[in-house]
Amino acid sequence: MNSMEIHPDRSRRSTPSPAAKRQRYDRLAPFYDLLDLPFEHRRYRTLRPQLFEGISGTILDAGVGTGRNMPFYPEGSRVTGIDFSPAMIVRANQRRAKLGKDIELLEMNVLATTFPDQHFDAIVATFLFCVLDEDLQLPALRELSRICKSTGVIRFLEYTYSNDSLRRFVMRLWAPWVRWIYGAGFDRQTERYIPEAGLELFEKRFVYRDTIKLIVTRPAGA
Ligand SMILES: C[S@@+](CC[C@H](N)C(=O)[O-])C[C@H]1O[C@@H](n2cnc3c(N)ncnc32)[C@H](O)[C@@H]1O
Repeated sequence: MNSMEIHPDRSRRSTPSPAAKRQRYDRLAPFYDLLDLPFEHRRYRTLRPQLFEGISGTILDAGVGTGRNMPFYPEGSRVTGIDFSPAMIVRANQRRAKLGKDIELLEMNVLATTFPDQHFDAIVATFLFCVLDEDLQLPALRELSRICKSTGVIRFLEYTYSNDSLRRFVMRLWAPWVRWIYGAGFDRQTERYIPEAGLELFEKRFVYRDTIKLIVTRPAGA
């Protein structure tokens, strides 16, 4: 059995309300970059550019956070970043101003966006689905599927439990802290819902050890 399937994270948690989840990120926003700094420098900053390779046109960065992906947005593309936390949007605005980039930033829930059907050429989401509880994985994927062009692509960077026993043990020690601070889990089953969301899995590969994966999906039948 896969380690992702046996992990008991979910059985121990109570699900916070949507407002509580948003407030968590509102509180976290001023410290987010500082808290994430070691991971950003040792892991994420070399992974983020891979997400944008070969994409152009209208791009959505779903769960934009403080705008850590911004330096890697492809030149000439029209990027919209959404986040349900107003305070994270404030931080993203600051980064946008610093970089002098033309990026649209909107406060919006990924579960119910206001974009028309088939609006984006590409959608990226970095470490968003590990924050969404298991029961929100399918609704979120469905919404992204709806607003992605039939010729478009959706790419995710997400954590998963390692199959290496020592590494998995360390991740399990970290899990309560990650849950408490970020509301995130390493045990999300995002790929499982891809077909039901009207998408097909195009590519899945590990980009950092066997703990961070790049998932590439496309609208089914494209
Ligand atoms: C772990 S952070 C990742 C931020 C950024 N993508 C990055 O790579 O640094 C997750 C982000 O998703 C946002 N988020 C969580 N649930 C959301 C939802 N339902 N709709 C929109 N944004 C959401 C949080 O506010 C937070 O900014």
